[in-house]
This record gives sequence, C-alpha cells and structure tokens, in this order.
Amino acid sequence: MQVELQQVNKLFQKDNGQSLQVLENINLTIKRGEFLSLIGPSGCGKSTILHIIAGLEFPTEGKLLVNGQQVKGPGPDRIVVFQESGLFPWMNVLENVMYGLLLKKMKRKEAEEKAMDALRMVHLGRFSKAFPHELSGGMKQRVAIARALVMDPDILLMDEPFAALDEQTRMVLHYELQEIWQKTKKTIIFITHNIREAVMLSQRIALMGTRPGILKKEFLVEAAFPRNPSDNVLVHLERRILASLEQEMEKVLKEEMGDDYRLQKGAHVGDPLYHLGSDI
Ligand SMILES: Nc1ncnc2c1ncn2[C@@H]1O[C@H](COP(=O)(O)OP(=O)(O)O)[C@@H](O)[C@H]1O
Ligand SMILES: [Mg+2]
Repeated sequence: MQVELQQVNKLFQKDNGQSLQVLENINLTIKRGEFLSLIGPSGCGKSTILHIIAGLEFPTEGKLLVNGQQVKGPGPDRIVVFQESGLFPWMNVLENVMYGLLLKKMKRKEAEEKAMDALRMVHLGRFSKAFPHELSGGMKQRVAIARALVMDPDILLMDEPFAALDEQTRMVLHYELQEIWQKTKKTIIFITHNIREAVMLSQRIALMGTRPGILKKEFLVEAAFPRNPSDNVLVHLERRILASLEQEMEKVLKEEMGDDYRLQKGAHVGDPLYHLGSDI
C-alpha cells in the first residue's frame, strides 16, 4: 500500500478552549497508481484528511504511512492542487510552471523543456507566454495541474480542484484528468462534494459521514476508462451514493435546524426525505 491511514483521530482546539473532534478512527489504504475520491458533506473533514496525507497537519492519534514510512511533514512526493489555482500574477504561464524546478536549482533550459512538456499535457502549450489574468478559470486550473505534474510527485492530492468551474469546463477537465492519470500512472486522491464527478473519475469512492468525520462506505466504480457519462453503471452508482449521502445530510440538517427541521419536513410532504423520520 502506498498510503495508509491507521486509526487516525484528529481534534482541533477551538477558541473557547474546547476541542472539536473532526476525524474519528479513519482507516484508509490507497494503492500505488490508484484513483480514489473522497466525498462527503461540507465540513466532514475531507480537506483535513488530505492535509494529513500532504503532511500539512498531523493526526492527534493514529498514523499516516507513505510507502511504509511514517510521514514527518510535506515532501516532493506529495503535491496538492487546490480549488484556487494560486498562480503568481506577475509571472507568465511558463514561469509559473518552471518556478518549483528553478527552486530545486534545475538549469533554466532543462526546466523550460520540462515545463513545456507539462503544459502540453494539459493542452496549454500555446499559452506559455500568457499571464494568469488572460486565462479562463479552467485554463488557470490546468496551469495549476501542470505546475504540480512538472515536479513529478508520486501522489497528486486534489482538493475540489474543479469546484469553481462551470459545468462544461468541468467536463472537459474530467477528460483531461483521466488522460493525465492514465499517461502518468500517478496515484490520485481527489476530493469533491460532487457525486457525478467522483463517479466519472475514480476507481474507488470513499464516502464520509460527518460530526465527527468517519469513513462510512466504499464504492468500487467498475467501468472502463475513458468514462462515458451516460454509462448505466455510473448512473446507477450515482443514485446509490446519493441515497447514502441523503441520510448524512438529514443528520446535519436536524442538528443545525433543531425543531425547525421537523416543521420544514411537515410543510413539504413531497420531499423525498419526508418519510424517513420516525416521529413525524
Ligand atoms: N485549523 C483548524 N482549526 C479548527 N478547526 C478546523 C481547522 N481546520 C478545519 N477545522 C474544522 O474541521 C471541520 C472539517 O473541516 P474540513 O476538513 O475543511 O472539511 P471539508 O473539507 O470536508 O469541508 C470543520 O468543522 C472545520 O471548521
Ligand atoms: Mg474542504
């Protein structure tokens, strides 16, 4: 196993001195070359798991092993791509992508060649001299992916990288990411709260429950790549995952709305959640 989380608990200290348990007893293993998605409602601890794997946060209890070694911090073998591209606005696309290689003291010529290869991989070879403000949201995220790929990490950690994009752009990037994954054979751990996206991209999906964050269920996505969005296997699986997620959402809504939750449910007899309660 390339990544192993063993019995991980994570508590954060709140301002009022109390502690908040964010992750409870997380056991998760990810194989080399696997594409795994983590999905779950907002606030369930998805980013916290990713930050632990990246070495940006540490488990309060339990262990994270990467290639059998306990992780002590961030490393060049694990790179995160965030929702915001985080490009330097004063550098052009090529300079942005080369930046990490130059920091590693790579010769300029070699860095430029590697950066151009990475840009071609995300179909932006023609835009190497453009500046970030000249690019669309989808193009910026492609540059962010190229900037991660050029460092040649074993593991790519992606935290809702397409969440801010429109539907069409996101679909195009789904095809590109599948292609990149198949060409580079990287391990990809992908976070999303979009079930369709998880189903389109992953071999395996881990669904999280919330408060505290637990791993609730796993789903295997048994369909060939590149994925066809209208494939029945995918459509069916999407429905199954949605049903599991709805149970989680109901729990969250009940906690957040208290008595109002019951009122709202009573008011909407057609609501699909309407019949799930026992005391209505
Ligand atoms: N550094 C932190 N300090 C305190 N609480 C945090 C910190 N980071 C995250 N949290 C809390 O932990 C919970 C899970 O956060 P996060 O992992 O970002 O969830 P997700 O990515 O699933 O939306 C949230 O309630 C969030 O407010
Ligand atoms: Mg998050």
